[in-house]
Amino acid sequence: MPSLLSGPVAELPEQALARINSREKRYRLGQFFTPEPIAELMAEAVLEIDPETCLDPGVGGGVLLRAVGCGPARLGCDVDPAAVVLARDALEAQGGEVDVVVGDFLDLDRWPFEVDELDAIIANPPYIRHHNLSRGQKALAKHYSRSFGVSVSSLSGSYVYFFLEAIRRLRFGGRLAFITPAEFLDVRYGHALKEALLSWCEIDELIVLEMDELAFEGVLTTSAITIATKRERVSRRVPLTEARLSDAIVRVRGTVIESGEALPERPWTALLPSRAERILPLLAGRSATLADYARVRRGIATGDNSFFCLTQEDVDGWGIEPRFLVPAVAGSKDLPENGSVLTREFWRARKDAGARAWLLFCHEPKSALAGTAVLRYIEHGEALGLTERFNCRTRKPWYGVERVPPADFFVTYMSRQRARFVRNELGARCLSALLNVWAGDGIDPDELRPMLEDQANARLLREFGRTYGGGLGKIEPADLLRLPVRPLAAPLSRAA
Ligand SMILES: C[S@@+](CC[C@H](N)C(=O)[O-])C[C@H]1O[C@@H](n2cnc3c(N)ncnc32)[C@H](O)[C@@H]1O
Repeated sequence: MPSLLSGPVAELPEQALARINSREKRYRLGQFFTPEPIAELMAEAVLEIDPETCLDPGVGGGVLLRAVGCGPARLGCDVDPAAVVLARDALEAQGGEVDVVVGDFLDLDRWPFEVDELDAIIANPPYIRHHNLSRGQKALAKHYSRSFGVSVSSLSGSYVYFFLEAIRRLRFGGRLAFITPAEFLDVRYGHALKEALLSWCEIDELIVLEMDELAFEGVLTTSAITIATKRERVSRRVPLTEARLSDAIVRVRGTVIESGEALPERPWTALLPSRAERILPLLAGRSATLADYARVRRGIATGDNSFFCLTQEDVDGWGIEPRFLVPAVAGSKDLPENGSVLTREFWRARKDAGARAWLLFCHEPKSALAGTAVLRYIEHGEALGLTERFNCRTRKPWYGVERVPPADFFVTYMSRQRARFVRNELGARCLSALLNVWAGDGIDPDELRPMLEDQANARLLREFGRTYGGGLGKIEPADLLRLPVRPLAAPLSRAA
């Protein structure tokens, strides 16, 4: 067959793939390649057990198996035939036994190799988010829940399934080295994977590449390298290392999470020494948590903001009756500074500047809307096929968005900026890019203002929030409820 390597002679398979495959295809396949210093560290880790077989289940251009070298028999599969050809050519040129095939590692009925239990598995599994997985792949959550006796969330990204399948495919005494987003160490969908690792493997080392390091060009993520050996008896201890990537991986500091502390439901990156040190001084005097004083809920998920959120011009054009509209804020740009108040004047200025400042808020059945302009607008939505949209198709009527009362505060929860707390004096509703906070029963929202507007909150939330590279912090409602706060002076009633 003609060589795919039609570029410069010294081109690596990874460079050839980056040239041959469109960005869109690479994104869809989760095809991002491991930098060599990381591949070398991971290869060293698996070579320590002197494996006779070593598999890369998403081989890409083969950088991980090239780093392993031709000692063990090297097995690889990939759903991308171009990757398979390139990886196989480069590995065969190194010598040794090579078996690289087109195959789907998550298709459990079609195992493509003769060996079915492995000594070593080295992987940079594709990270395909749950909403881009096929139905069959999502069904793996149930499958692995049964086989591992843990509750695997269907919100897991593909790499979680690669990890679990790898644990299953290893022989006892076999070792895996995986590089993945560090996210699973902190988020809810990572609990099951952490539990599976703790109960089936001895974790030899868990290396977190520092927050501001972007290990993979173009991918915004903090990475974790997990090195673990499958064992019949395990200690449930986790040696945790902070590292930095330059020409090689530089281990910066480390700690050991003892077995009683290494609980799957805890965020493990908060235990990294430098993170823990940064958090400690911020915690002084914060003996309560926000859950003691407030309720939190994500803003309204409409199903299609371009239909449900309207500008004044849209409202005027359709003539939609005012009783079917409420003021809304769509995102952080619709909010004033931290510690400020969302007033009618501020909102009006955004509206006059053309922002989508109105939310369609109609819950009456169509039969009660005869002759109204809103009915014409709803029918327009139906003609656009909105009734089949994710959030719409499960609602009755499909256009009736969640009926939450206006929050006391809004919080920006995903932005490159710091989290902001804004008092909602206007009584607006917010969309899902923001969080709602309501003061607990019997608590005056204004009493909570100093607590919420404390400048240290944003830093704490960044530390506690979901781990993304580049300082991008995403806060889940549960993270916000765990926010340590100074207790209110007055006696209080707990939030419902
Ligand atoms: C993150 S890349 C890593 C490639 C290579 N191992 C490396 O370290 O550079 C993940 C690879 O998995 C492949 N892939 C995606 N889904 C797969 C699946 N279900 N089974 C096997 N390979 C898959 C992609 O085509 C891609 O080459």
